[in-house]
Amino acid sequence: MASAAGLLFVLCSFVALFVVEVECWRPGKPISPIRQGVKAPLPSGYSYQTLYYDQQIDHFGFANEKTFKQKYLFADQFWNKKGPIFFYTGNEGTIEWFCNNTGFLWDIAPQFNALLVFAEHRYYGDSLPFGKESYQNSSTLNFLTSEQALADFATLIRYLKATVPHAADKPVVAFGGSYGGMLAAWFRIKYPNVVVGSLAASAPIWEFTGMIPCSSFYDTTSQTWYDASKTCGDNLHRSYETIKQVAAEAGGYDFITDTFKLCTPLKSKYDLGPFMSMLVETYTDLAMVDYPYPASFMAELPGWPVAEACSYLSQPLEGKDLLRGLSRVTNMYFNYTGTTDCVHWNGSGGTPTLGYEGWDYQSCTEMVMPMCSNGSGIIYNIDWNFQQVSDACYRRYKTRPRENWISLEYWAKELKAASNIIFSNGMYDPWSSGGVLQSISETVVAIQIPRGAHHLDLRAKNPKDTREVIAAREQEINIIKGWLGLTP
Ligand SMILES: *[C@@H]1O[C@H](CO)[C@@H](O)[C@H](O)[C@H]1NC(C)=O
Ligand SMILES: *[C@@H]1O[C@H](CO)[C@@H](O)[C@H](O)[C@H]1NC(C)=O
Ligand SMILES: *[C@@H]1O[C@H](CO)[C@@H](O)[C@H](O)[C@H]1NC(C)=O
Ligand SMILES: *[C@@H]1O[C@H](CO)[C@@H](O)[C@H](O)[C@H]1NC(C)=O
Ligand SMILES: *[C@@H]1O[C@H](CO)[C@@H](O)[C@H](O)[C@H]1NC(C)=O
Repeated sequence: MASAAGLLFVLCSFVALFVVEVECWRPGKPISPIRQGVKAPLPSGYSYQTLYYDQQIDHFGFANEKTFKQKYLFADQFWNKKGPIFFYTGNEGTIEWFCNNTGFLWDIAPQFNALLVFAEHRYYGDSLPFGKESYQNSSTLNFLTSEQALADFATLIRYLKATVPHAADKPVVAFGGSYGGMLAAWFRIKYPNVVVGSLAASAPIWEFTGMIPCSSFYDTTSQTWYDASKTCGDNLHRSYETIKQVAAEAGGYDFITDTFKLCTPLKSKYDLGPFMSMLVETYTDLAMVDYPYPASFMAELPGWPVAEACSYLSQPLEGKDLLRGLSRVTNMYFNYTGTTDCVHWNGSGGTPTLGYEGWDYQSCTEMVMPMCSNGSGIIYNIDWNFQQVSDACYRRYKTRPRENWISLEYWAKELKAASNIIFSNGMYDPWSSGGVLQSISETVVAIQIPRGAHHLDLRAKNPKDTREVIAAREQEINIIKGWLGLTP
């Protein structure tokens, strides 16, 4: 999921092992699995092979028997042919990006002697069912669903077990963060025969219609900023009125354009909407990536970026001074490296590796996540109107979202029958609002990480890690050992 509309989301040395082509397991229809070894050195010095699997386009119907090449990253340098398979359920973006941001798996693979697999989600990265035409229309997009993605993961695992020597009887543990975390949890729920357990990090599986109040996401965002500084939160709370006032003054739009170094000038009150929503996105993204050390997850940023941003707003500010303060926040978010010429306010900014387009479509079909705000916190008044969303979806994709499908399909809060899932959440992360924060049973366990941001626990260990995240990772390792029958 990317930013306000979407979501959600470490590293890999290398010896180019060329995996031998092997017969496919699928009965009746021989597919030639393309397994191309590609060198891919990563900063950590880890390495993987980039491989492709001929994946069924449609798992749930029989009219279309075509396949596409699903990319996955394969790292067996830690595997002693006895250890488990750790499987990352890819989310909405190119898989290397998630691999680059899931250092936890690389950190723990040696102690588990684990085989690592990162599977790309269909319709993202290079895993395009209809190539360049995958996003053409609602017919080509029709196979972009979480159910198809889970079936991809399950069939890929069956294929790997059938073809990788010594893999057949090894237990598989699923890992994912954000939407990938939702998929990891749902994977265990739907395919307990395939995975022994799942670590679902920052997985907002309850961010859907009817499960939590629509204000929850922005309430948590506000909380994170108010925690950093009350004065800072109050400044942000007042700022929207201030923006409108300053804009209404003579030369007001030019002042805002110049102060924020906007790429396109603000010209009228109609531009204020998208401009302010850019600010809201900045605040939610900063809360998401409020890591204790400098990171470049969604943007290049200093450690504790929310506190850093609040250092520009630590005094009660008004009028143009307040806007200058805000511009230092956007400057930090968009321009920490000092190489950004101007700030986009009309939707052209953002993280290019995240599949905005794909997630937008998923939001217009299955992933209906109501979000609203009554303006009492740092976010202005935002209404949630399903009909409007549905109409906008129809105009764009000729699809209408099914508001209540996910809750039926994936059990909503009725998780008592599930087992072996860890739901971890960083409590600074706005997405924790839709997460499972209390344990459901002995084996469906919630881990809260105070002062934690979006799936901080999945990131590579860092000297600046808080004791809370260190403790969370230890607990996760012990639970996973339990699933694998290893003594903690
Ligand atoms: C992952 O890290 C490698 C090594 O730093 C880099 O070359 C590559 O561009 C990164 N990929 C993504 C998608 O972030
Ligand atoms: C959708 O796009 C595909 C690929 O370009 C094309 O073959 C098909 O006719 C289109 N379908 C509709 C309903 O426009
Ligand atoms: C980014 O930082 C550089 C160096 O400080 C500055 O020259 C430039 O104007 C900044 N860009 C924006 C958009 O603030
Ligand atoms: C943003 O505005 C610029 C200039 O008007 C335009 O070229 C660009 O296409 C706009 N982007 C979006 C996403 O609307
Ligand atoms: C606005 O929302 C906040 C947080 O959800 C809630 O505590 C507050 O009571 C609401 N205020 C009004 C006026 O509805």
